[in-house]
Amino acid sequence: MKLTALYLLSFLLFSLFHRPTFASKKSYVVYLGGHSHGPEELSSVDLNQITESHYQFLGPFLKSGGYDPKDAIFYSYSRHINGFAAKLEEEEAVEIAKHPKVVSVFLNQGRKLHTTHSWEFLGLENHGRVSSNSIWKKARYGEDTIIGNLDTGVWPESKSFIDEGLGPIPSKWKGICQNDKDAAFYCNRKLIGARYFNKGYASEVGPLNSSFDSPRDTDGHGSHTLSTAGGNLVPKASVFGLGKGTAKGGSPKARVAAYKVCWPPVSGNECFDADILAAFDSAIHDGVDILSVSLGGQPAAFFNDSIAIGSFHAVKHGIVVVCSAGNSGPADGTVSNIAPWLLTVGASTTDRDFPSYVVLGDQNRFKGQSLSTQGLPRGKYFPLITGANAKGPNATTEDALLCENGKLDPKKVKGKILVCLRGENSRVGKGEQAILAGAVGMVLANRNDTGNEIVADPHLLPATHINYNDGVALFNYINSTKNPVAYITRATVEFGIKPAPFMAAFSSKGPNTITPEILKPDITAPGVSIIAAYTAAKGPTDEDFDKRRTLFNSVSGTSMSCPHVSGIAGLLKTLHPDWSPAAIRSAIMTTATIQDNSDEPILNASYSKATPFSYGAGHVQPNLAADPGLVYDLTINDYLNFLCALGYNQTQISVFSDVETYKCPKYSFNLTNFNYPSITVPKLSGSITVSRTIKNVGNSPATYRARVKKPAGISVSVEPKRLKFTKTGEEKTFFVTIKVRKSNAAKEYVFGELIWSDDKQHQVRSPIVVKAI
Ligand SMILES: *[C@@H]1O[C@H](CO)[C@@H](O)[C@H](O)[C@H]1NC(C)=O
Ligand SMILES: *[C@@H]1O[C@H](CO)[C@@H](O)[C@H](O)[C@H]1NC(C)=O
Ligand SMILES: *[C@@H]1O[C@H](CO)[C@@H](O)[C@H](O)[C@H]1NC(C)=O
Ligand SMILES: *[C@@H]1O[C@H](CO)[C@@H](O)[C@H](O)[C@H]1NC(C)=O
Ligand SMILES: *[C@@H]1O[C@H](CO)[C@@H](O)[C@H](O)[C@H]1NC(C)=O
Ligand SMILES: *[C@@H]1O[C@H](CO)[C@@H](O)[C@H](O)[C@H]1NC(C)=O
Ligand SMILES: *[C@@H]1O[C@H](CO)[C@@H](O)[C@H](O)[C@H]1NC(C)=O
Ligand SMILES: *[C@@H]1O[C@H](CO)[C@@H](O)[C@H](O)[C@H]1NC(C)=O
Repeated sequence: MKLTALYLLSFLLFSLFHRPTFASKKSYVVYLGGHSHGPEELSSVDLNQITESHYQFLGPFLKSGGYDPKDAIFYSYSRHINGFAAKLEEEEAVEIAKHPKVVSVFLNQGRKLHTTHSWEFLGLENHGRVSSNSIWKKARYGEDTIIGNLDTGVWPESKSFIDEGLGPIPSKWKGICQNDKDAAFYCNRKLIGARYFNKGYASEVGPLNSSFDSPRDTDGHGSHTLSTAGGNLVPKASVFGLGKGTAKGGSPKARVAAYKVCWPPVSGNECFDADILAAFDSAIHDGVDILSVSLGGQPAAFFNDSIAIGSFHAVKHGIVVVCSAGNSGPADGTVSNIAPWLLTVGASTTDRDFPSYVVLGDQNRFKGQSLSTQGLPRGKYFPLITGANAKGPNATTEDALLCENGKLDPKKVKGKILVCLRGENSRVGKGEQAILAGAVGMVLANRNDTGNEIVADPHLLPATHINYNDGVALFNYINSTKNPVAYITRATVEFGIKPAPFMAAFSSKGPNTITPEILKPDITAPGVSIIAAYTAAKGPTDEDFDKRRTLFNSVSGTSMSCPHVSGIAGLLKTLHPDWSPAAIRSAIMTTATIQDNSDEPILNASYSKATPFSYGAGHVQPNLAADPGLVYDLTINDYLNFLCALGYNQTQISVFSDVETYKCPKYSFNLTNFNYPSITVPKLSGSITVSRTIKNVGNSPATYRARVKKPAGISVSVEPKRLKFTKTGEEKTFFVTIKVRKSNAAKEYVFGELIWSDDKQHQVRSPIVVKAI
């Protein structure tokens, strides 16, 4: 006994002695801005020198002399982004942040990962045939554009990444296939590169074994997003026979590259800042044209946000960076990835359903959705029971109603159809609880906060997901019936569903909480029940109990809508190789629609009118984006002016951007004049005149006329009302005066629009978003 205690004590002392400060160290990113070198390639000698300079820089800051900067630094960013990631004490981090060469020091925090038919819904094809006006034809299917993806890696064996029929890899490509530790992983002429970044993750979770030394996707998310952006045409793709069709990416002839930065979650986060920044630095070096980033965290100050920093350097190199808006809706102010150099994407539905009905004993039927391949024998009724009525011994009614882990009493559930309320635990996890409790089927019912947003999931038992109103009716039936019974029909597929699109309840919403003058998200695209490539390392429900494997899976999220827009950006890059990232974004935004397939305004998931805070400029229309007529363009200097206007000073901005000659404008520049394709005035008192400059990228000569739809209680006038362009590439400036019309105008956000139209069917549309104070 005594001996053990002594031994324990000496062990503690031993460890304290040897690693006196370990517990207080955290991993940080130290961001030093850009590197002053031209487009030419750095030699390995140069790169080593930069890394050496990082060691020398850090050395003097390390307390407890003798601690080696080489042990502290785990990433040295040395290609385009300048900085390093290191394990530091908080006091050390504070001191480093004071150094004039340092732009910012921030914690290496975790971030979350936020088919076949969706391209037809977007008008690129019609019954599987490419329409004559399809951007696919014009843009040669995104031929030779290179799309990179920051995500969970890639499953290289997926048919979406076969390289049949593709020519040699574009000569500008400098990427690698990082399969040195995983010989089975391969690249080809389609999947032209893959890398993995796990040091920032390891700095949080501790040493990793060799299974982490590979870009292979064991999660499914990365293969899904990458194939949505740039996957091949794969005929007969389906999830267990449902939704059968040709799977394809938005740019099916693009080359793709995977940058694995996301790993199994720790405290709910899977992708860490230090790794994300390293991936951006590599992707810029490798030569990608488009970066698709379906992940994010809480909105943060620009210099503390790895995605904002990494994407700024990418955009500086002409790369279009497309990000998901987040899955934290439908509450206001939840949108992330709000930097004005990003293209931020919300999620909405398509007109495809996977209907599976629940048929009640009184012959009422409710149309739900499911990808479960099983139904209950038609006409044979089973008893219905709610989770609440099947409450286990130690459960609360609420937990039982949600069908949470271990809260159900199998004696009550056995042989019945279990009704669970949506929320808290995962939808497919509720299905697992139903199976464990012996249910023959499950009905998942929405709460009022998710309304009409129902999702087709590949449940392992007969199951269907119904909307809020139907859920209320079902609960009423159960409450008011002595022996409530039902059966569930096998899922099928239906097209032409109306209304579509409508906004997904999960899609994060504006206003932008960091810079309210910039409307975010920018756009919406399909993100509900999207079928695309998956991993063979995991079952389609992402649950351990699911032993099935499928090479295509249906998944929902802004993670799925983001790569739709990445694919479309890829097409625009092939079609207009000289357009800036801002011009490509403008083309996508100003040609979007705010109407659904019933020619009514796009709705939210409760079927109320949605606003630009949900969809930005609207629902993407790729065929129109090919020829927008006019674009709102931006240069790197415009982004720097934007940062000046936010109050960052000259010194900080020069370091951040590595543009030494840059000077903040003499006259303070108003954020509302930032040349964005949307106009937002978050604090209007009296009146304001905002300016925009618009560039002709269509035919010439061309004359455009302004048309305005005023926000309620606000007047809007445009000067001049007519713009005449004599040349392609010509720019014109105009002014929009926005005035509070009534002193009693509502003190909440109101919405309008400005459209420039010519007589050749170009409609260049910008949302106007105003709040009076
Ligand atoms: C950036 O992160 C650091 C370290 O976590 C923190 O001290 C600082 O306040 C943050 N800066 C901003 C502007 O949020
Ligand atoms: C590596 O670590 C992971 C996570 O800790 C574990 O699940 C896996 O079995 C390990 N693999 C090997 C080959 O040791
Ligand atoms: C319920 O709680 C009791 C008393 O706390 C405990 O003995 C029993 O094991 C619990 N049962 C279950 C199913 O968790
Ligand atoms: C849902 O119902 C609750 C309670 O009645 C209410 O507070 C909330 O505002 C409703 N939410 C929506 C989105 O309708
Ligand atoms: C059904 O009955 C339960 C318990 O009696 C009650 O909590 C619930 O609100 C009722 N539901 C409906 C939709 O009437
Ligand atoms: C839809 O919009 C209405 C009106 O703004 C709002 O009350 C409701 O909560 C919204 N529903 C969802 C799911 O976003
Ligand atoms: C710029 O801002 C930094 C950080 O707030 C400050 O340390 C520095 O003195 C400022 N420089 C100038 C020229 O104002
Ligand atoms: C920008 O315009 C807004 C709206 O009129 C005004 O409130 C704000 O003071 C202006 N900012 C600057 C820096 O001029």
